[in-house]
Amino acid sequence: MLTAMRHNLLALALMSLSALLPAADVPYNGLAKTPPMGWNSWNKFEKRVSDALIREVADAMVKNGMKDAGYVYVNIDDTWEAGRDEQGNIQTNSKFPDMKALADYVHGKGLKLGIYSSPGPKTCAGYEGSFHHEEQDAKTYAAWGVDYLKYDWCSASKVYDSHEMPAVYAKMGQALVATGRPILFSLCQYGLRDVWKWGPGVGGNVWRTTGDIADNWRSMSHIGFDLQLDLAPYAAPGHWNDPDMLEIGNGGMSETEYRTHMSLWSLLAAPLLAGNDLRDVPPAILEILTNKDVIAIDQDPLGKQAKRVSKKGDLEVWARPLAGGAYAAGLFNRGESAANVAAQWSDIGISGKARVRDLWSHAVRGGVTDEFIAEVPAHGVVLIRLEPENPTAAR
Ligand code: GLA
Repeated sequence: MLTAMRHNLLALALMSLSALLPAADVPYNGLAKTPPMGWNSWNKFEKRVSDALIREVADAMVKNGMKDAGYVYVNIDDTWEAGRDEQGNIQTNSKFPDMKALADYVHGKGLKLGIYSSPGPKTCAGYEGSFHHEEQDAKTYAAWGVDYLKYDWCSASKVYDSHEMPAVYAKMGQALVATGRPILFSLCQYGLRDVWKWGPGVGGNVWRTTGDIADNWRSMSHIGFDLQLDLAPYAAPGHWNDPDMLEIGNGGMSETEYRTHMSLWSLLAAPLLAGNDLRDVPPAILEILTNKDVIAIDQDPLGKQAKRVSKKGDLEVWARPLAGGAYAAGLFNRGESAANVAAQWSDIGISGKARVRDLWSHAVRGGVTDEFIAEVPAHGVVLIRLEPENPTAAR
């Protein structure tokens, strides 16, 4: 009798202890060695996403050079979901008559398909979530041929306590790994509870660091500059900070501002998920999205996110080391009129001379000694790649 009581007490103690312990590590799925690149339906289309749209976007990505530039994921965001059948299997609504056929089509183009859900009973747009169906949904996604899951906290706040968040994400992370299909896991909970500290442990390849981006200068610049400070140490191959999807081409910013958006996201080693209508892209916008020199910064295999190395009022320099001893630096002007911005090599960590190439004009800017000064338009950037003459002394 006493022994049984002791056992029960022990079991109770262990149960409450396990509730306090951090979520068990989910094994790394081997994906996202560099930040994921692709497209997502939400920023432009919100609820107006459908099977036909996804096929057209996939076709367009092949034709317009986006695929060749490295954009591979075609991601369906919220509003594809219907309810569940009698066995609890998630159903698609009439906008998506056959998800497996759609995945086959996208794969046939050499692209990958992404999908969206929530750990709560409902998604942010009020559609069916994965609450109590995590493993079943993961299996369904794998059976359809899904390659990417964005998992959005939303109504989970109504059924879970916020301290349970890591365990809740680990549950889906584990379920995805258990399917045996490589499915990139994107955490979307707006940076709550310092997600960058536990994101990798729950199987996350990327995690949103902020609330939703909007297609205007104030939102993009606040998210990109102010809210990513101090996050660089948490980015590494396989695991990236995500300042949200691109707004490039959606019309609310100038081309200068969109170049700033693209440059900053690339310096930040952010996922590059275009969010515009890729079926009809003005050439100037396509040029911004497909600039190979800029994309190479984002996709640099060293995987080091840029840090802000200087700030003088509205003028900021952000820089990151690259594989092979080079560096990238962005000279940004957040102010309302053109200004000269100076990048000091000593701030970046380079000693000696370095060759400079401008990644938007593609011009070589000559050998310089210990700094580079450029005139930068209002809300603009000069993005450079630096090749130190003596790379070993630089590190
Ligand atoms: C949240 C996310 C967005 C988008 C919507 C869909 O707001 O942060 O990126 O997925 O939900 O409802």
